[in-house]
Amino acid sequence: MAKIAVVGAGHVGVTYAAGLAELGNVVRVVDIDRAKVARLKRGQIWFYEPGLPELLARGLKRRRITFTTSYAEALSRAEFVFVCVPTPSTGDGSLDDSKLRLAFDMIRKHVAEEAPIIVNKSTVPVGTGDIADKLFADAGLRVVSSPEFLSEGRAVEDFFHPQRIVLGSRDDAAAEAVAKLFAALRAPIVRTDNATAEFSKLAANAFLAMKVSYANALARLSEAVGADVEAVTRVLSLDPRIGPGHLRAGLGFGGSCLPKDVAAVEHLARKHDANPDLFGAVLRVNRDQRSRLVDDLLSHFGSLAGRRIALLGLAFKAGTDDTRDSAAVALGEQLLALHADLVVYDPVARLDLVNGDERAAVARSALGAARRADATIIATEWPEFAGIDLLALRGAMRGNVLVDGRGVISPGAARAAGFEYFGFGRGGNGSA
Ligand code: UGA
Repeated sequence: MAKIAVVGAGHVGVTYAAGLAELGNVVRVVDIDRAKVARLKRGQIWFYEPGLPELLARGLKRRRITFTTSYAEALSRAEFVFVCVPTPSTGDGSLDDSKLRLAFDMIRKHVAEEAPIIVNKSTVPVGTGDIADKLFADAGLRVVSSPEFLSEGRAVEDFFHPQRIVLGSRDDAAAEAVAKLFAALRAPIVRTDNATAEFSKLAANAFLAMKVSYANALARLSEAVGADVEAVTRVLSLDPRIGPGHLRAGLGFGGSCLPKDVAAVEHLARKHDANPDLFGAVLRVNRDQRSRLVDDLLSHFGSLAGRRIALLGLAFKAGTDDTRDSAAVALGEQLLALHADLVVYDPVARLDLVNGDERAAVARSALGAARRADATIIATEWPEFAGIDLLALRGAMRGNVLVDGRGVISPGAARAAGFEYFGFGRGGNGSA
C-alpha cells in the first residue's frame, strides 16, 4: 500500500485515482477547481465513463480516496505524485504545457521533507521529463515519464488491463518502484528514457489516427473503383500485422487526443526538419471527411435552407459524452451555417448546438429527431443507431435520405427499407 497524490481531477486523474485506490493504495487528489473537488467528494463525476462512478464510490467508502484543493494537503507524506493535467493544442500544433508547468511549480513549492517520485501521465512535449528532472533535482525528487493509454468510454477497463506500461526515467529505482504499484496488473513493461516514453505516446496516437485516415482514403478509392470499403478493411484486419482496430471509415477521428497528438507530431517533424508530410496528410484526409457529407447533401438537395435534418450523435465517439473536436458537432455547425432545420439527438452527450443565429432543436429519441425529417445523419457510432429499426425510421421521416457517417448501417438493408443511402466507400457491388 502506497500513499499517492494525484494532481488534476480530470478524466485521466479520476480514473487513475480510483484505480490506484482499488489496487489498495491511499490516494489524495488535488485540483484547483473548487466546484469539481466539492462534487467529487460526494462521489459525483461530471463526465460519462462506464464503471467509474462505482469504482470511485468504493474508494470513497473504504476511505482510500480524498479530494482537496490544497497541494500541501495532497502532497503531505506522498510517496508518489501522479501528474494528470491537460495539455491542449496551441495554434501551431505544439502542445500547451502551461498547466503542467504550473503543476510542477506547485509540487516543487509544496513538497515537504519527503521526496516523492513524480510520475507524469500527461501527454507532454518531448523533453518535458528531462526538464522536470532538472527542476526537481535539488529537492531530491525523481521523475518517471509514464504516458497513459486510457481510451474514453473504456478507461476503467484500460486501467485494469493495460496492453503495456511505459516507464521512462534516468533513475532505475524510481522506475522499479512505479512498476511495483502496477505489478498486480501483469502488463508488459517497457523501460526506457524520458524522451522515448513521451514520444511513444504521441507516436501511438498518431498511428491510430493514420489508420483511420487510411481507411477513409481507401473509402474514397473504393467508391471510385466499385469496391466496398468495409470488406476491404476486413480483409486487411485479418492480417495480424495490420490488426482490426481503427479501420472503420466514416466521418473521421475527433476528440481531445488523436487530432492534437497528430498535430503535435507534425509540429515536431516540421521543427526538426524531419519530413512532416505523412502526418500532415493524416490531418488533411480527416478534415476532408467532415466537409464531404455536406457536399453530398448539397448536391442532392440543391440547398439545405429549411431542410429538416436529424443529426444522430454529438459525442466524438460512442461510449462517451465528450464533444471536444467532435466530427458530429463540426458537421452540425456546418449544417446550421447552411440554414438547415436541424434536430439533434445523442443518448448521452448534451450540447447546445448553435451557429450565429441558428440553433439546433434537441430531441429525446432518435425517432423523435427523425420525425418529418428530409434526411437523417448518423454521426456517432452508438449501438443504438447501428441497431435502429430502419422501417420505423423511414416511417417517421418525410424524406428518404439516410446518411451513414460511421459505416454502421448495411446499405442493402437501408435500401430495402426505402432509403437512399449515402455513406463512405460502401456503394460497391459487394455492399450488403
Ligand atoms: C485515444 C487512444 O485510442 C487511446 O489509446 C489514448 O490513450 C487516448 O486517445 C489518449 O491519448 O488519452 P480516445 O481519444 O478516447 O483514445 O479515442 P479513440 O477510441 O482512439 O477514437 C478517436 C476517434 O477516432 C473517434 O472520433 C472515433 O470515432 C474515430 N475512429 C476510431 C474512427 O473514425 N474509426 C475507427 O475505426 C476508430
